[in-house]
Amino acid sequence: MPSASPTAEISFVDLAAQHARIEADIAARIAGVLAHRRFIHGPEIAELEATLAGRAGVGHCVAVGSGTDALLVALLAHGIGAGDAVLVPAFTYMASANAVILAGAVPVFVDIDPDRLTIDPADLEWHLARLRRDGTLTPRAVMPVDLYGLPADYDALDGIARRHGLFMLVDAAQSFGARLGDRAVGGFGDATAASFFPSKPLGCYGDGGALFTDDAARASTWRSLRHHGIGDDVMSSERVGLNARLDTLQAAVLLAKLGIFDSELDAREQVARHYDARLTGVVSAVAPRHPAARSAWASYAIRVPGRDRVAARLKAAGVPTGIYYPHPLHQQPAYTSYADGPLPVAEAVSADILNLPIHPYLKPADIDRICDSLEAAVSG
Ligand SMILES: Cc1ncc(COP(=O)(O)O)c(C=O)c1O
Repeated sequence: MPSASPTAEISFVDLAAQHARIEADIAARIAGVLAHRRFIHGPEIAELEATLAGRAGVGHCVAVGSGTDALLVALLAHGIGAGDAVLVPAFTYMASANAVILAGAVPVFVDIDPDRLTIDPADLEWHLARLRRDGTLTPRAVMPVDLYGLPADYDALDGIARRHGLFMLVDAAQSFGARLGDRAVGGFGDATAASFFPSKPLGCYGDGGALFTDDAARASTWRSLRHHGIGDDVMSSERVGLNARLDTLQAAVLLAKLGIFDSELDAREQVARHYDARLTGVVSAVAPRHPAARSAWASYAIRVPGRDRVAARLKAAGVPTGIYYPHPLHQQPAYTSYADGPLPVAEAVSADILNLPIHPYLKPADIDRICDSLEAAVSG
């Protein structure tokens, strides 16, 4: 392989390099599905669910059609609906709020912690007190988001959820594969929702998602809800449900990718450390970390004043970047009517956040080139 030339294109996410590594496994897995032709609920679904539950250290995994399906199914199964408040961080992807609203409940936006960039436990308590005082909505659930792959502050959140009797649904769309202490993502809260969107650390070749729990009855309701609400009689609906099934072909792809997932997580960690070493002191803040956590590094985000100017200079230098997210939820047209209370950290972070390329196949020379370009962009 030639070494990276200074003008070679840098990928934000390199699915081609990954595919080249596992092409034979993917082809064999797909051929298996084509041979049995059980495209819905084929045997790969049960195999995937058992493998993922084992990784997460929980009793049950239920594969679904996307991360959004996972959130919605979990909320519906818990009976969350009209008159209920679900507390979500204001700085996350729109799906977190959409699921709450589609379930018929009201999202209550909570500010984020400035270091971890995940839901701020102190602000969560503040909003819970406000909701109790107002008395209009019933706080039923909290939905922490493990932003960029870093687990939220579950030591604090567990206690708050218990004291307030809240259902905790973890949005782990970006963090499947991460750990906090000796616990793997999937085992926090009452339920966990993962996404297998192609660019996620564990991604399939289309949409996909999964739910995790230790509660057998909860898992059984999820299985029913993902399949039109059926029970034992497949031609009779027991509850109003969805078509939220994962395709067998996507399960086959995920099973092939799981064979290299741990080595990819290690590679992501190496990339993140390389960035940390090069960028500490160069930008206002490097990507959030926590000493007890191992992030899945779905994204590597820095904070930099003059973000848009810096991003434009990087683009001119051939370095792709992303902005996750330029608008906090309460400032997006679909959700402004739900805004209530100050959210200064979410607003400040959305103004200067910048996401750099990160994937397991990013070479040290490319990271250095990105960092050199960034240093020039911030100083120019
Ligand atoms: C935080 C968060 N929640 C939910 C989702 C929704 O996942 P999906 O795209 O699989 O529906 C995403 C996807 O990007 C996400 O980042």
